Amino acid sequence: MSDLAVLVVGAGRAGMVHARNFAAGVPGSHLVGIADPATDVAERAAAELGCQAFVDPVAAVTDDRVDAVVIASPTFSHADLAVAALAAGKHVLSEKPLAASLADAHRIEAALGAARCVFMMAFMRRFDRGFRRARELIDQGAVGEPLYIRSTTRGPGLPPPWAWDVERSGGLIAEVNSHDIDTVRWLSGQEFARVRAIGRAAKRPEIAASHPGFVDVLALQASLDRGGLAHIDGACPADYGYDARAEVYGTEGVLFVGDPAEGPLVVTKQQVRRDPVAGWARLFQDAYRAEDRHFIAACRGDAPAEPGLRDGLRALEVVIAVNRSLREDRDVSLGEVR
Ligand SMILES: NC(=O)c1ccc[n+]([C@@H]2O[C@H](COP(=O)([O-])OP(=O)(O)OC[C@H]3O[C@@H](n4cnc5c(N)ncnc54)[C@H](O)[C@@H]3O)[C@@H](O)[C@H]2O)c1
Repeated sequence: MSDLAVLVVGAGRAGMVHARNFAAGVPGSHLVGIADPATDVAERAAAELGCQAFVDPVAAVTDDRVDAVVIASPTFSHADLAVAALAAGKHVLSEKPLAASLADAHRIEAALGAARCVFMMAFMRRFDRGFRRARELIDQGAVGEPLYIRSTTRGPGLPPPWAWDVERSGGLIAEVNSHDIDTVRWLSGQEFARVRAIGRAAKRPEIAASHPGFVDVLALQASLDRGGLAHIDGACPADYGYDARAEVYGTEGVLFVGDPAEGPLVVTKQQVRRDPVAGWARLFQDAYRAEDRHFIAACRGDAPAEPGLRDGLRALEVVIAVNRSLREDRDVSLGEVR
């Protein structure tokens, strides 16, 4: 099979991480283009990456020269792009969350059902060395049967303004805690059954005034379908750095993964210190590379297309249930949103 021609859609924060990986070289592929409706953004990115700039994203994902598409545009645009790409026979790696609504997610599901293409979700924590090792140890029975899973994500800065709009993007839960939702499912091997969330716009109340439902700190408790319990918490902007951690308590012990500090430990008479992790792109840089390599291997039939559409759909259902719990101040069962 010849090299797959990859197009990245969205030349923003996540898109440029993927695009730079493909420009640097992902075995079995080459970067053919970058698409962004902001002409100056597309042209600047293409000049840096040494590929073609496209300013019409739908025309780009259906272009004859493209074999595989990485969707890294704002969440509300994922479904139209994924459906167009799949209908044109292109493999798709979609950034999380899968889509902004279940109706959009089901459109993608139908398009995938009618296509002979690979569809992968970009839950990059599944490609991180530490998180992978945690999953291996759990599979080996190191902590026994998982009874309780806790997952935390805090980011140093706010996501882009389009992500503050809960209706169009799913808000903090979709933007930040999608990863925790996938982590809980992946590490426990269980599905969410019921959620109860509380949240506040504690640091940025002015955003909540213009964006109803916006929260910048969140606490979520959940019951899982085979008896597991889970907690997820999220915050943005947390200012101190990027913090992605999980804990799995099981019948035989407990496992911790993730570290909000990096680099050497410095000890002087006055202080003991390490540096905080600066951001997600740095913390998960190797995971993104492994994810992009895995996507191409899956397109070539050399690896399973996992995490897949079902993982994106299950996570989106939880996002919707959590936002409903916040809005209506009550427990929400997943059965209500499916
Ligand atoms: N895996 C992760 O950890 C991670 C991290 C950040 C973002 N993301 C996801 O990546 C996606 C993009 O987020 P971001 O933070 O990079 O956003 P961003 O705002 O930084 O960049 C989005 C880019 O898409 C362009 N765009 C706008 N409308 C478009 C359309 N209809 N089609 C194509 N491009 C369009 C914008 O001009 C912008 O350049 C989101 O779904 C987000 O949730 C994932």
